[in-house]
Amino acid sequence: MSDIGEREAALPLETRPAATRKVFVKTYGCQMNVYDSQRMSDALAADGYAATDAIEDADLVLLNTCHIREKAAEKVYSELGRIRKLKAERQQAGREMMIGVAGCVAQAEGQEIIRRSSAVDLVIGPQTYHRLPEVVRKAREGEKVVETDYAIEDKFEHLPQPRRAEVIKRGVTAFLTVQEGCDKFCTFCVVPYTRGSEVSRPVSQILAEAERLAEAGVREVTLLGQNVNAWHGEGPDGKPWGLGRLLHRLAEIPGFARLRYTTSHPRDMDDELISAHRDLDALMPYLHLPVQAGSDRILKAMNRRHTGADYLRLIERIRAARPDIAMSGDFIVGFPGETEADFEDTLAIVREVRYAQAFSFKYSPRPGTPGADMRDHIAEEIKDERLQRLQALLNKQQREFTESLVGKTMSTLIEKPGRHAGQRVGRSPWLQPVIVDEKAGGIGDVVTVRITGAGTNSLYAQAV
Ligand code: 5AD
Ligand code: SF4
Repeated sequence: MSDIGEREAALPLETRPAATRKVFVKTYGCQMNVYDSQRMSDALAADGYAATDAIEDADLVLLNTCHIREKAAEKVYSELGRIRKLKAERQQAGREMMIGVAGCVAQAEGQEIIRRSSAVDLVIGPQTYHRLPEVVRKAREGEKVVETDYAIEDKFEHLPQPRRAEVIKRGVTAFLTVQEGCDKFCTFCVVPYTRGSEVSRPVSQILAEAERLAEAGVREVTLLGQNVNAWHGEGPDGKPWGLGRLLHRLAEIPGFARLRYTTSHPRDMDDELISAHRDLDALMPYLHLPVQAGSDRILKAMNRRHTGADYLRLIERIRAARPDIAMSGDFIVGFPGETEADFEDTLAIVREVRYAQAFSFKYSPRPGTPGADMRDHIAEEIKDERLQRLQALLNKQQREFTESLVGKTMSTLIEKPGRHAGQRVGRSPWLQPVIVDEKAGGIGDVVTVRITGAGTNSLYAQAV
């Protein structure tokens, strides 16, 4: 069945749109943006827009932008310059091409985007995605719409549920946002300003969405939140629930073989969540727990509200609960005032923890954050040099971790066909792609394999 046919078939007859237009969505940044783009596509599908991968065919182009690091806004403006030409070409041919900017740059820049790029028809911030169909309708009538309020109504309550056909098309793994926004105000970070304050989705809403994913064949769910482990709600038992309790409940859903969550803050790792890592087989032994820096002075200036020693103690407790857990982290080098000694404290923490994976960045001042106004900004060459040293260490640790898996037996979720005939690609508990023979199992199966070799990015395995 064709793509459009499938989508229309998924809609009840009375809401089936008369004409089908096409939307092209380009996603930048984090996994939450990936999830948001899917939900925006879902919302627009109900309004007659089918998704397309070809920008030239699009009646609506949506950029779902990211503002976390350097030059994000500039990249969006230059992308808009390119799209503007496509728009002109389509208009000459008598076709429409609406251009929309969504995501965190939309939230941060607002009206400025329309001012700088006259080709843009609509700007919509992350808190108002449920209003997208209405915003698009207004924009089609010729109004330039900027929708960046923090909506008082619950966005998720008003967004359509993920569509079954789409979930199936997206595969056996899925994201599910359970929490959004952040109240931590780390002094380098724009998230509390672009995503707003911390909001937890209610248990009933999360379970309804989870059931729907499971029914469509999803085997692995990654719970998302900027501060996912700050998630809290009231359970059906009337008791306050934290993320640990929620994970227990989700593990009961038939079909779900694997659960993950990201991103966590060290201060919100409570006992219940740590013991969930001990008690739940479905909870994968992999934890992304950013520390950002190793020096207590810098951690304080970053407003992280924990020390390096607090972080190490926490990891010790997590490893006691789940000895095979692999750690992942985020690091910033060259925060204002960072000395060579401070930076060496970061290296020391990395040596102590031994990360399986990590993301490291040069500090980039974000307009409106306290860090941007601090004194003693670090020269670019020093940031470059520190980043190189840190990445050399992290890459070495990552290689060592991957190589340590050779010869081991582990579970693998088969996700998709391989690049070569007769192969399939699965995923290890620690997120590495695993190349296996197709006889190992079908897509969606969790199979036991023995690792026979390691490439730079993937593992090679045989079914056992
Ligand atoms: N400069 C550099 N890196 C940053 N991050 C967040 N803000 C900044 C910034 N201003 C990094 C942090 C965070 C990750 C998502 O991005 O390490 O954990
Ligand atoms: Fe940003 Fe800190 Fe909140 Fe993470 S915890 S989103 S780094 S402010």
